[in-house]
Order: sequence, then structure tokens, then C-alpha cells
Amino acid sequence: MKIILLGAPGAGKGTQAQFIMNKFNIPQISTGDMLRAAIKSGSELGQQAKTLMDAGQLVPDDLIIALVKDRVSQADCKDGFLLDGFPRTIPQADALKSAGINIDYVLEFDVPDEVIVERMSGRRVHPASGRSYHIVYNPPKVEGKDDITGEDLVIRADDKPETVLDRLKVYHTTTKPLVDYYQEEAKTGNTQYFRLDGTQKVESVSAELNKILA
Ligand code: AP5
Repeated sequence: MKIILLGAPGAGKGTQAQFIMNKFNIPQISTGDMLRAAIKSGSELGQQAKTLMDAGQLVPDDLIIALVKDRVSQADCKDGFLLDGFPRTIPQADALKSAGINIDYVLEFDVPDEVIVERMSGRRVHPASGRSYHIVYNPPKVEGKDDITGEDLVIRADDKPETVLDRLKVYHTTTKPLVDYYQEEAKTGNTQYFRLDGTQKVESVSAELNKILA
């Protein structure tokens, strides 16, 4: 089972990734989480990525493609994986195709920009796992603490309102063309494409995914 989650920043990809991972027992490959881990470790990749990420810009394709190719070649990906935040550009999608990786499902979460801006202002994350909460719509059991580890939740550096607007611009110009790209792919019959209404409640989106991936 190889799945791509497509959608604007804050559309709910990371939230639903938790649901899909648990259902299929496949690893989530979140390029955003991988880059944040690289920044934390102080690696060369992290140093290159930090300024771009803080400004809401994309990290160069060659760096990301190498990162993902290495990750999907690891043993835990042999029965499938869930790509969250990759591909984000046409060259990244082309790289997957040229590597002979056939995607079973592309799942798009459709959420208008004004809803995204509101969501990001209430997002809190658990940096070690990437688990994401919302102070109103998806609150943790204990305020400010991760449900599983009890560790502190934080506000992401790129969730400042002005950076969110920049990330949305990048999404519309650079990532949104992948909607057409994968809808065309779906016509070949190798990939199935579904668009979900991402403005529904978290549990309703999960229920819809459950039906699609049954
Ligand atoms: P990344 O970490 O991938 O961020 P993103 O795509 O901007 O996505 P987010 O994690 O912000 O949102 P999400 O869709 O996962 O939403 P979530 O579930 O948290 O990338 C960060 C940066 O890294 C990029 O800007 C770029 O610089 C770099 N990068 C990463 N990948 C790259 C690539 N491939 N190429 C180049 N650069 C790359 O939900 C958001 C909030 O809404 C949460 O608070 C959540 O609780 C809440 N919520 C979720 N669902 C619902 C719902 N149904 N109703 C109400 N609230 C909800």
C-alpha cells in the first residue's frame, strides 16, 4: 500500500496520517518532520533547510528527493508507506515515477485558505513524533501535553500568520499543479485519486478514508 497525502499546509495531512498508519501498519514519511529532525540535529541538511522553512519556502528538490529515496529503500517500507508532504513539486513527482514507485492512492484534502489560517493559529505539535493537535478542534487530553508521552506540545516556528500566508502562496503556485498531474495519472488506472472535504470534523474525514481504503 503506497499512499500520497496531498493538500495545503494545515489541510489535515499529518492528523489523518496517524489514522492511516495505525490502520495499515505502514510508516508515515513526513518530509517536514524529517527536515525538522535534521534542523534539531544540526546536520548540514538541517542548516540548509532552516532559513527556507522559517520563511515558508520549499527546500531544493534535489535534497528532498535524495532524502525520500533513501527513506523508502529502508526495510520498514517494503510493504508500503504513506507520503505526507512529498511530492510537493512536479520534479519531485517525476522523480518518484522514474524510480519506478507506483502509488496506489493519492488522497487530496480540500480546505479553503481562510480555514487554514484559522487552524494554524491553534495548532500545537509534539516535535518528537509529529503528532498534531488543535486547541479547539482536536485538543490533547491534558492541555499542552502529548497524549501518548505526556511531553510538552509546542507552536511550530512556521505557523506565524505571515509565514502561513507565504506557505499558502507556495502551495497554490508550486504544489497545486500536482492535483492535475495525479488526476491524469489516475486515468492510466495505476493510481486511484480521491478528493476529500477536509473541512469536516477530524473523525468524519477518518471515516471517509476508512471507506475509501477498505
Ligand atoms: P510540512 O511539515 O510538510 O508542512 P505542511 O505541508 O505545510 O503541512 P502541515 O504539517 O503544516 O499541515 P498538515 O496538512 O499536516 O495539517 P495538520 O494535520 O497538522 O512542511 C514544512 C516545511 O518543510 C515546508 O514549508 C518546506 O519548507 C519544507 N518541506 C517539507 N516537505 C518538502 C518537500 N517535499 N519539498 C520541499 N520542501 C519541503 O493540521 C493542521 C491543524 O488543523 C492542526 O492543529 C490540526 O489539529 C487541525 N486539524 C486537522 N484536521 C482538522 C479538521 N478536520 N478539522 C479541524 N481542525 C483540524
